[in-house]
Order: sequence, then structure tokens, then C-alpha cells
Amino acid sequence: MKITFCCTDTKAEPWLAGLRAALPEALVELWQPGAAPADYAVVWAPPQAFLDEQPQLKALFNIGAGVDALMLLRLPPGAQVVRLDDAGMSVQMAEYVCHAVIRHFREFDGYEADVKQGKWSYRKPRARADFPVGVMGLGVLGERVARALRVFEFPVMGWSRSPKALDDVRCFAGPAQFDDFLAASRVLVNLLPLTPETEGILNRATLSRLKPGGYLINVARGAHLVDEDLIALLDSGQLAGATLDVFRTEPLPAGHPFWTHPKITVTPHTSARTLREESIAQIAGKIATLERGEPIAGIVDPARGY
Ligand code: NAP
Ligand code: GLV
Repeated sequence: MKITFCCTDTKAEPWLAGLRAALPEALVELWQPGAAPADYAVVWAPPQAFLDEQPQLKALFNIGAGVDALMLLRLPPGAQVVRLDDAGMSVQMAEYVCHAVIRHFREFDGYEADVKQGKWSYRKPRARADFPVGVMGLGVLGERVARALRVFEFPVMGWSRSPKALDDVRCFAGPAQFDDFLAASRVLVNLLPLTPETEGILNRATLSRLKPGGYLINVARGAHLVDEDLIALLDSGQLAGATLDVFRTEPLPAGHPFWTHPKITVTPHTSARTLREESIAQIAGKIATLERGEPIAGIVDPARGY
């Protein structure tokens, strides 16, 4: 069995060593143009030339949860695309989102600014009930985030494509319930996959439906957001602020208004990192399962795009 590793922007050696240790019977190689085709591939944003050389590929393991970049490529006909299924990401995402929500709700930015000026200030406590949080996407990450927010007793809403039932989370589904979901939310957390249906979904019209003083946390993909619409809504006072971890162009270009906007907190696509050891264990386990002819979880449906 041959496994080829082809990941842009990733140091290959530790991955190759980890995969070899986990699957000692396999030949594990870094892709070189013209090399013999593989049975399995471990990829992140591979070039089309790599995929075009893989006629016998059984599965492509993406070393991230989001497969939007892969879905733009011409894939080998028999290959299943497999996304990372948590592998240590959901707890990181829960930490990040809870931190961002609490920082905004408790006005910690304001306290930090006051302390820097030597001011011992108090702010009137705000009511948690006035900060309902809406989570767009109730998949592997969104569900964990929704549950984590409930621990802090925020009212939590969730929106997904198919109907869901989560304890203590008010669930909405499909386009028909989208407006009601937005209208019930003050803080909006985006954890949708990027697909033709969801591109640009965070725009002037949708963000304007949030409760007054709305706040956006985008941790999914930059192309979900219409950048100029967010800036306009922040500048007009319609939205109170935003925490952004993902951007249309990454790294965020120098001079982009998000860098310096006083109501925006930027982080460099770091809310839920791929953890190498957990990911290798998951991928190796799934390859072994497939080799036994058994089914695995995390297979992407190309028709849905996630
Ligand atoms: P997932 O398990 O596939 O869940 C996706 C959720 O979105 C599902 O609940 C799905 O509904 C819902 N959804 C999809 N299309 C929809 C639509 N048109 N309308 C309404 N709901 C829709 O994905 P995940 O593992 O939670 O990851 C979500 C995204 O997070 C990834 O695609 C990636 O872009 C992003 N991400 C970012 C980072 C980071 O560091 N910033 C890290 C990891 C992932 P159903 O349940 O009905 O299918
Ligand atoms: C990161 O953004 C991922 O999709 O895993």
C-alpha cells in the first residue's frame, strides 16, 4: 500500500515519520512529480498536477476540517474525500469562541484600555439574557461550541441545514428559518463550511437582522463575509464589533482595513489548529479500517460540498 503526502505550507518530515510509525506496512512518500501513483493521499491544498497523477487513489485525507479548497479541484474519479473529524479541533474552537464571547460580553477590552491609563474603573454588569448567541453550523465544531457556551449560561441558538435537537439549544434549520434565527441572535458565530450556498452569507442584509448591538465571530472561512458590508455596519454603529480569525486572502494583506479597525479583533487563522499526532492517529486508523473493507466516518459528499 502506498501513501503519498502532498501538503502545501506544511513541514513534511514529521508527518512522514508519524505516518510511517503508525502504518509500518505502508510505503509513505512525499509527492514528487512523476512518482508512482498512490493508494491513499494525505493532502492540504494540493496542486491539480498531483491529483491528475493519481488514477488509483482510494481516498484523499484532508488535514483540515474544511474541504472548500479541495472541492475546487478536479478529483480522481474513484477517490473519496475524507475531512478531519475533530481530531482535537473542537475543544480549541470551543475555547476560542467562548473566549471571544466572554471578552465582548464582560467588556474586557474596555477594562484593559482603562488599566493601561492607570484607571480603576467599573462598568455596570450586563445581563447574560441580553446576549443570545447564534451558532451557524451545528456540525462537529458548531455543536461543541454551542454546548460550551451553554456552560456559561448564555442563551444559545443554532442553525443548520437539516433539523437538529440539542439540549438547551434553540435549533433552527434551512433557509426558511434563517431570518428567525438571526433575529433571535445578538452574537453571531460562523461555523459553516464554505460552499456555493454559503459564500457571502455574512452580508449587509443578514448581519442587519441581528438584535441591536450585534457582534460577529467568524471562525469558518473569509469568503463567508462581505468585508465592506461589515466595515459599513461597524462604522454606522449597527454592529458593536467583530472577532475575525479567517480572511478572503491569508495572510491578511498589509493595509487591509481589518488590521486597524477599532471594533475588530484579528487573529491569524488560529482558532482550531490541526494537531499532528491526533490527525495522524485518526488518518492511520481510517486507512486500516478501509483496508479491512469497513466503512469510515467523515466522508465528504461532493454534491453538498462538505
Ligand atoms: P461539519 O461537521 O461539516 O458541519 C457543518 C455544519 O454546517 C453542519 O451542521 C451543516 O448542516 C451546516 N451547514 C452546511 N451548509 C449549510 C447551509 N447551506 N445552511 C445551513 N447550515 C449548513 O463542519 P465542522 O467540522 O463543524 O467545520 C465547520 C467549518 O469550520 C469548516 O468547514 C471550516 O471551514 C471551518 N474551520 C475553521 C478552522 C479555523 O481554524 N478557523 C478550523 C477548522 C474548521 P447539517 O448538519 O444539516 O449537515
Ligand atoms: C482549518 O481551517 C480547517 O479547515 O481545518
